[in-house]
Amino acid sequence: MKHLVIIVLFFISIFSTSWIFKDNKLTQQPRIEKIIPKNWPQPVKNIFEKNRLSADGFFLGKKLFYEKRLSKNNTINCGSCHQQEFAFSNAGKDFSKGVNNSLTKRNAPALINIAWMNQLHWDGAINHIEVQPLAPITAKNEMNEQMKTIIQKLSKDKNYPVLFKKAFGDTIINSKRILKALAQFVGSLVSSNSKYDKAMNGKLFFNKTELQGYQLFKSNCASCHPEPLFTDNDFHNNGTSLNSLHDIGLQGITHQSKDSLKFKVPTLRNITVTYPYMHDGSIKNLNSIIEHYENNNLLNPMLDKKLQRKISFTKQEKKALIEFLFTLTDNDFLRNRSFAKE
Ligand code: HEC
Ligand code: HEC
Repeated sequence: MKHLVIIVLFFISIFSTSWIFKDNKLTQQPRIEKIIPKNWPQPVKNIFEKNRLSADGFFLGKKLFYEKRLSKNNTINCGSCHQQEFAFSNAGKDFSKGVNNSLTKRNAPALINIAWMNQLHWDGAINHIEVQPLAPITAKNEMNEQMKTIIQKLSKDKNYPVLFKKAFGDTIINSKRILKALAQFVGSLVSSNSKYDKAMNGKLFFNKTELQGYQLFKSNCASCHPEPLFTDNDFHNNGTSLNSLHDIGLQGITHQSKDSLKFKVPTLRNITVTYPYMHDGSIKNLNSIIEHYENNNLLNPMLDKKLQRKISFTKQEKKALIEFLFTLTDNDFLRNRSFAKE
């Protein structure tokens, strides 16, 4: 009888651990309908229609995101410049180091809710997540590698053909599949569980200061940083000045003077960990961000209309606004094991 109990317990334990494991896998399986948070708008139309999200595709995409062989001298991966604990930005760095210590010309943006963005990079130079990786991979100052060589390197590896088979049905490794897998990983980086989200879902309440900050945010900032994504995914001139690299932003793409110094509005989710700020990392902290908006030159004809009025906050209001911005930090996202290098 005693033995029978032990045997039964043994089977129950095996059964339950494998069940839990499966369940874990299930919670990691990023189906598009699953990754859209409640009450959010739809992501970019058809974004995963020809690249169906699957657990194996996501896993391969993650492997590639952290794969240094994507760079010429096998030293840099996507995660070198996009670090999870900093919401996939390169915290502390105005510009990022690529191969041979060369520097990028812009600040590495956080990678948050990219599936909702149909214009990528600070100037919108790229319009789809499935082509975006070609930019850092081939840029001389980033990874400086050719797809052809990457395919050769990965084909020689004993694991990759198996992973491509799991994700795409056979062992063929090609550019299209590499890009699709990366898109599955990057597109699944959804942050939607900050204190702000919990307050919106009625799970907890803002304190008095946060609530005051939220009101100030809605009347001064939300026109370009609207909820729930905290970006309108559009380009505006918010008063940043021309830097020494002569970065003119959207104008460099459209060649129209009206687009001078217009940059894509960054999300403010996880803003406490994505410093330094702006396209060139020229603003170091949130206090200085608020001062930037207070000190904007209203005579600058290029300044966005929405900012052409005096903005000023009392010391207390500034504190409240910053406390509100702190509620956008999503520790579940920053520490989600399924986004981390294995
Ligand atoms: C050397 C640093 C570096 C590396 C390596 C790097 N990136 Fe980036 N990433 C940047 C910078 C800088 C930008 C902004 C470029 C611009 O605006 O011109 C950027 C922009 C992006 C964007 C657009 C985000 C947005 O909000 O518009 C995505 C997506 C992205 N990177 C994904 C990747 C992937 C995937 C890889 C690996 C294949 C990668 N990056 C490798 C520095 C890097
Ligand atoms: C007219 C549109 C507009 C308004 C209004 C606006 N912003 Fe911005 N914001 C932008 C743009 C555009 C950028 C990026 C500019 C750049 O990179 O040079 C930006 C950047 C930022 C950043 C840096 C984000 C990062 O990741 O680098 C913060 C923080 C920020 N804004 C907060 C605010 C706050 C707080 C307010 C209200 C006081 C506000 N914004 C109002 C357009 C706007």
